[in-house]
Amino acid sequence: MLAAQGLVESRPGVGTFVRARRPARPADYGWQTAALGPPPAQGRLLSSTQRTLAPDLIGLHSGYPAQELLPGRLVRAALARAARTEAAGTRSPPAGLPELQAWFAAELAETAPAGATAPSDRDVLVLPGSQSGLSSLFRALVGPGRPLLIESPSYWGAILAARQAGVVLVPVPSGPRGPEPAEVERALELSGARAFYAQPTYANPTGAQWSPRRGEELLDVVRRHGAFLIEDDWAHDLAIDSDPRPLAAQDGDGHVIYLRSLTKSVSPALRVAAVVARGPARDRILADHAAGSMYVSGLLQAAALDVVAQPGWEAHRRGLRRQLRERRDLLAGSLREHAPAATLEHLPLGGLNLWVRLPEGVEAEGFARECEGRGVVIAPGGEWFPAEPAGAYVRLNYSGPRPERFPEAARVIGDVLGPVVGQG
Ligand SMILES: Cc1ncc(COP(=O)(O)O)c(C=O)c1O
Repeated sequence: MLAAQGLVESRPGVGTFVRARRPARPADYGWQTAALGPPPAQGRLLSSTQRTLAPDLIGLHSGYPAQELLPGRLVRAALARAARTEAAGTRSPPAGLPELQAWFAAELAETAPAGATAPSDRDVLVLPGSQSGLSSLFRALVGPGRPLLIESPSYWGAILAARQAGVVLVPVPSGPRGPEPAEVERALELSGARAFYAQPTYANPTGAQWSPRRGEELLDVVRRHGAFLIEDDWAHDLAIDSDPRPLAAQDGDGHVIYLRSLTKSVSPALRVAAVVARGPARDRILADHAAGSMYVSGLLQAAALDVVAQPGWEAHRRGLRRQLRERRDLLAGSLREHAPAATLEHLPLGGLNLWVRLPEGVEAEGFARECEGRGVVIAPGGEWFPAEPAGAYVRLNYSGPRPERFPEAARVIGDVLGPVVGQG
């Protein structure tokens, strides 16, 4: 152990010695300032949701579910089985393992209305997580200097990926029922954008799910403008009180580009997602993805497919629905009881988050710092706005470890906010 830590060294035939410490010379990286030039415009590189915490803190900030919500036994068995297959020593085709492509295509076809053209297996491209898919989509379908419509608020990772791709973001206000079709129409006309990134199902952060009618109206708007709808179905497996209804299942002519990830429901360690796209758009996305990462590890793809093909997967999803409902209700109830000044405008029907509005005059970043000083880590809402925030919000994730501490967390939030003016 001492050798591994670099504290002693063995010289064969001579003995073991305390390793001489070389005086540490402070490195001079100053030359890089000139070599790198001005910093990129996208601002901070890591989100507050990506921090790892000391175990005594209550974490309501993270975007990924705690281990107890994942099918750990299925994943471990699947990895062991995958390690014994061809996939352990071969290269996957750039578009993905054909069997996994077929699984994603069949899943989407299941929710298609009668008469819709089902996606083919070839329309599915397997990706190493949907975050890298967003980068590929924005590069391949939009490109630097060109406009992209985005709901406001929307997923911080999509905002970051778009900025990194040099795409010009055009925000469209979105609430608990999704964006107004007339607003989307106006924004498409004014900006000339040919793509709209949206989350019709349990949006991160608001939890909004578009009604079937809203979905059809927005799909019509997109079609009329000859545009793409990039549908990020990130929470497909995280339903609570309703079921996901992907718009991509109703689209036969390539307007909807569908992103579906398994990383939050199967395992963040497997990191497997898919994009479903048709026509030349599919080829451009594949070319971009192949230039960036060539292909996704076949071993991880085989393991992910093994998990979702097990009878235990459906049982796991049913259990997950129940656990998420209990957690969501416990956190929402605790806030009602202990932090009445925090407003929950919408109880989400699925997903992992509560999107909470703070009272007038409270500033989200400072509020989050104060909560953290008292042991509760939350995500200030500014990161989810593509332009100036429409108000002071925080995102509270109910899928982290130790939900029994939610009431304690709500008490801290309530204490920091103080009593509600006008209540007894
Ligand atoms: C809306 C949305 N899209 C995409 C992602 C990225 O997911 P992954 O790269 O793990 O598939 C996330 C992760 O939080 C998300 O919330």
